[in-house]
Amino acid sequence: MGEDDWDMSDSGAQRLTGRVAFISGGLRGIGLACAERFLAEGAEVILSDLDSPDSDVAAAVMARLGQAASYVQADVTKEEDWHRARDAVQDRHGRLHILVNNAGTDLTGAVETLSMERWRRIMDINVDGVFLGVKTFVPMMAESGKGVRGGASIINVSSIMGLVGYNEVSAYNASKGAVRMFTKGIAIEFAQKQMPIRANSLHPGFVMTPLLEAGFQRWVDSGFAERKQDLMDAMAGATPMGRLADPAELAAGAFFLASADSAYMTGAELVMDGGWTAQ
Ligand SMILES: NC(=O)c1ccc[n+]([C@@H]2O[C@H](COP(=O)([O-])OP(=O)(O)OC[C@H]3O[C@@H](n4cnc5c(N)ncnc54)[C@H](O)[C@@H]3O)[C@@H](O)[C@H]2O)c1
Repeated sequence: MGEDDWDMSDSGAQRLTGRVAFISGGLRGIGLACAERFLAEGAEVILSDLDSPDSDVAAAVMARLGQAASYVQADVTKEEDWHRARDAVQDRHGRLHILVNNAGTDLTGAVETLSMERWRRIMDINVDGVFLGVKTFVPMMAESGKGVRGGASIINVSSIMGLVGYNEVSAYNASKGAVRMFTKGIAIEFAQKQMPIRANSLHPGFVMTPLLEAGFQRWVDSGFAERKQDLMDAMAGATPMGRLADPAELAAGAFFLASADSAYMTGAELVMDGGWTAQ
């Protein structure tokens, strides 16, 4: 594919007009913020999550996001769910330019206390879920990517915990490190085959989302801290910029990776952590 083949018509104010994006784990946190940003930039967006489409959460989110967004219930650990999601994208849009593998979960605890079942579960969601998303959508994205400047874009949400270790976070470290290296592997594969798909990993620091709040609550419940606010203050204090991130700040990074502005970027890591890993 030469640069002359690229459609340059997306250089207006809404930078994702004409593009279709799929976001896993899209009903909350960073995924939802990505959906909001992509829609604001003119994209059509399909969200997936575990919730039933009839649930209050899904109904409220979809009503708020409007007509350019749609929802499909899918568990990222189940290949048949990914196939259903792909069929939904095919039926509604017939193409896919942006895939955000965002769904994820955490796990903390001293390594000798982690059960095999919980280890497998986090690998299932954080690693297998990303693999299945990529495997399912690559053929469609290879076609769709031919038509847009910068090609199609896969954004795999890793973490600062995929870059550095942390006390009693080893399973999450392992899962997010796998996402980081899987992304590099596919990036090289697509580039060397001249496929119009880029793949990059996004590495958030501490972001104020339901996942982080639930993690703080577990620490409070286990007696590690008295109040969630104390933990938030401690995390903010350990971050050079002195605060946690807003999900919209991560969505800005995902938008950059999705857009043609990152056309020469593949196999890279976008770290957005308030300086945490620079220490
Ligand atoms: N919040 C942070 O501080 C932080 C930091 C670094 C990385 N991350 C990563 O960012 C991503 C999003 O995290 P968040 O903080 O927005 O979390 P969140 O819990 O607020 O949102 C994650 C969404 O994923 C969904 N999900 C979980 N398991 C799923 C499954 N099996 N199938 C489909 N959907 C599933 C949840 O229902 C939820 O809606 C995750 O991969 C997480 O590991 C978060």
